Parts: sequence; C-alpha cells; structure tokens
Amino acid sequence: MNTYKPIVALVGATGQTARLILEHGRADFDFRLIARNPEKLRALATATGATSGWISVSALDTGTVARAVQGSAIVINAAGGFSTSAVSVARAAMRVGASYIDISNEFSAVSAVLELAGEAEAAHVALVPASGYGTVASEGLVAWLAQGEQIRTAEVALMPDNEGTTVGTRETVFDSIASGGARVVGGQFQRHALGRGSRRLRIPDTGSTTLLPVPLGDLASIPAGYGAEEVTASFGVDAPPFAVRAFLPALSLALRSSLVRSLLSSRRPPASAQDALEARSYLSRAWARVGLRGGETREGWMTAGEGYRFTADAVLEVARHIAGGRALPGSMTAIRRFGPQFLHSLPGVKLSITTGSPARAQG
Ligand SMILES: NC(=O)c1ccc[n+]([C@@H]2O[C@H](COP(=O)([O-])OP(=O)(O)OC[C@H]3O[C@@H](n4cnc5c(N)ncnc54)[C@H](OP(=O)(O)O)[C@@H]3O)[C@@H](O)[C@H]2O)c1
Repeated sequence: MNTYKPIVALVGATGQTARLILEHGRADFDFRLIARNPEKLRALATATGATSGWISVSALDTGTVARAVQGSAIVINAAGGFSTSAVSVARAAMRVGASYIDISNEFSAVSAVLELAGEAEAAHVALVPASGYGTVASEGLVAWLAQGEQIRTAEVALMPDNEGTTVGTRETVFDSIASGGARVVGGQFQRHALGRGSRRLRIPDTGSTTLLPVPLGDLASIPAGYGAEEVTASFGVDAPPFAVRAFLPALSLALRSSLVRSLLSSRRPPASAQDALEARSYLSRAWARVGLRGGETREGWMTAGEGYRFTADAVLEVARHIAGGRALPGSMTAIRRFGPQFLHSLPGVKLSITTGSPARAQG
C-alpha cells in the first residue's frame, strides 16, 4: 500500500480556516504547522498529531519562511492580511521549489501574486492565489456564465454565510473598508469613495441586499483571465444604499487610524474558532452578471454552505490538483487553471442562470 503523503506547510495554521484545512486534509497530506504563537502551535500539533512538526515564525520575512517551509511540496498561506504576507510567503515557496496556494481576496495581494507568473515559471512551481470562497465562487460563476465566450463587462457580489468572524477576517474587512471603494473602468483599476455605486440587488426567494463595491481580488483576476474591461466586485451588506453612501466614507477614513482600529479590535469578535458550530444550516451565495462581447447579458447565482468550510474544501482541492501534477508552472487563480467545473465540483455548490441562454441553466 502506498502511504506517501506530500508535505504541506500550512502558514497561519492555528486560525479558523487552517483548522478546517487540517481536519479535512489529513488523509491526503502531512502538515507542517506555521504561525507566530508557539503555545498554540504546540497544542495544535499535539491535538492533530501533525507528523511534520511545527515552527513559530512570522509570515512577513521571506528568508525565515523559506527555512520553515524547506522540504514541503506545497505551501498554503492562510495568514492574512495578504497584502503584507502573500508575496513574502509565495517567494519563500518558490525559493524552496514548492507550489503556493493562498486564500487572499484583496485586490493588492491577488494582483501582486499574479504578477509573479514569470518567477513561478522559472522556479517550475504553480502559484494559486485567491483560492478561498472569494474569488472561487465569484470568478467561477463568471466563467460558468461565459462558457468560454469573450466577456466585456462583469459584476460580481459575495454574500458569505460564515460561522462567526475571526480576528483575521475582521482585520481584512477593516483593511478593505479603510482602502475605500474601487472598480475597473476601461481596463484600468480605479479607486473611489466607499459607498459610491452601491445599489440594491434582489435575492431570489429571500429579499434583497445592498451591493458595496470594494477592491476585491476579482478586479485583478477577471480582467487578467477573461479580458473584461468593466468590472465591479461587491460585498452584499444589510443596510440601505443611502446609509451606505452617507456613513461608509467616514468609517473608511476612521479605520485608517490605528487608534480607532485598536479600540474596535479590543472588542471580542462575535465568534471564534473555539465556538461550536451553530445548529443551523448555512447558505452562502454569490451573484454575477456578465456582458458578452456579442451583446448578450447573462446573470446567475451560486449557492453553497458555510463560507469557511467552502474555503477549506476549495484549498484542499487545489492542493490535490497540484499534488496530482495537474497544475502547470506559473501564477493563475484556481478557476483560470481548472475551469468553472472546479467550482461545480465543490461540495454543496449549486449554479443557476436567471437571465440569458436557458441552455446554461443545466449543471
Ligand atoms: N478568500 C476567502 O474567501 C477567505 C475565506 C476565509 C478567510 N479568508 C482570510 O484568510 C485570513 C485568515 O482567516 P481566518 O479566519 O483563518 O483567521 P484567524 O482565525 O484569525 O487566523 C489567522 C492565522 O494566521 C496567523 N498569523 C497572523 N499573522 C501572521 C503572521 N504575520 N505570521 C504568521 N502567522 C500569522 C495566526 O496565528 P498567530 O497570531 O499565532 O501568528 C492564525 O494562525 C483572513 O485574512 C481572512 O480574511 C479569506
């Protein structure tokens, strides 16, 4: 019996997402646990029986991370904010000849890792940024709606249903609110005031949400992968558009102050990795509308289960593709590499088309 398992260095190992990756990936991979807090790492290594050990380092220094991930075949980076960790961990992976996966969804981080394509080809490794719920769900839906046709415009929106909010996720949300709004116009990334362009979107059978355009990874991956010249990427928020336009610019400015952030951060998040999974079912959604070059518009929805679990499933599936030799060297998102069927193959995912060619509704 072949018992060989590739070594996966898991950076941010003690976090909520990483714990799910560990729990559901143990049959396929040997994990080496990496984060900063040694006590948490030791306890986690004992609890999970991590056979490739644990190392306490910061993700921000390429040289230190390279020594920590030496000998691994794949490095998974789950230590946000990715605007500071993604390039340093990706370069550390390339230095030791390992492939790289992260769960970034910040425009700056996703575009920076996509720009490492030449270095990744030279190192003969695959970099796969943005392998979490966002952008796998949103870009996957765009690719599924496009069905290989050229697109000119894309609008996407994420409505994750998560089990609580972790420290890492809250910091990422603060970062994206502080960085303001953004969109791609005429192929160019443009920043604008947070709240601008917000509007109501009807959710089938449920009600509606307000779309808040923010600088998500789709603003990098969709123009690069599908040639779209006009792109907006939004989070669905529970507030009317007038309130979003009136109050969010002030919140955006306030969150640039480290004092305001530390005051807000001193409040415990509503739930943490230790909290038990609530006894309810989860329904994460993503919406997309694409304008094809031929003039047709297609619009559709993806539904799935809990957001962190979706992310862990997606990351592990990317790692299995890499371990199985199905990822060419270079830097590309999971959907660009493996096509929209990658999204379709994830547990609990359902896709539906609400506008456009009815033939696409199958699947
Ligand atoms: N794309 C998506 O759809 C998606 C989905 C889920 C999560 N995320 C993002 O992924 C990130 C992690 O989320 P989470 O919920 O798992 O967060 P979390 O529970 O707060 O965990 C963060 C982990 O990263 C470690 N870490 C933080 N900074 C580090 C650094 N500089 N060096 C080394 N380790 C570091 C933390 O441990 P120490 O503090 O001990 O170092 C911890 O293990 C967040 O940015 C979140 O927004 C994205």
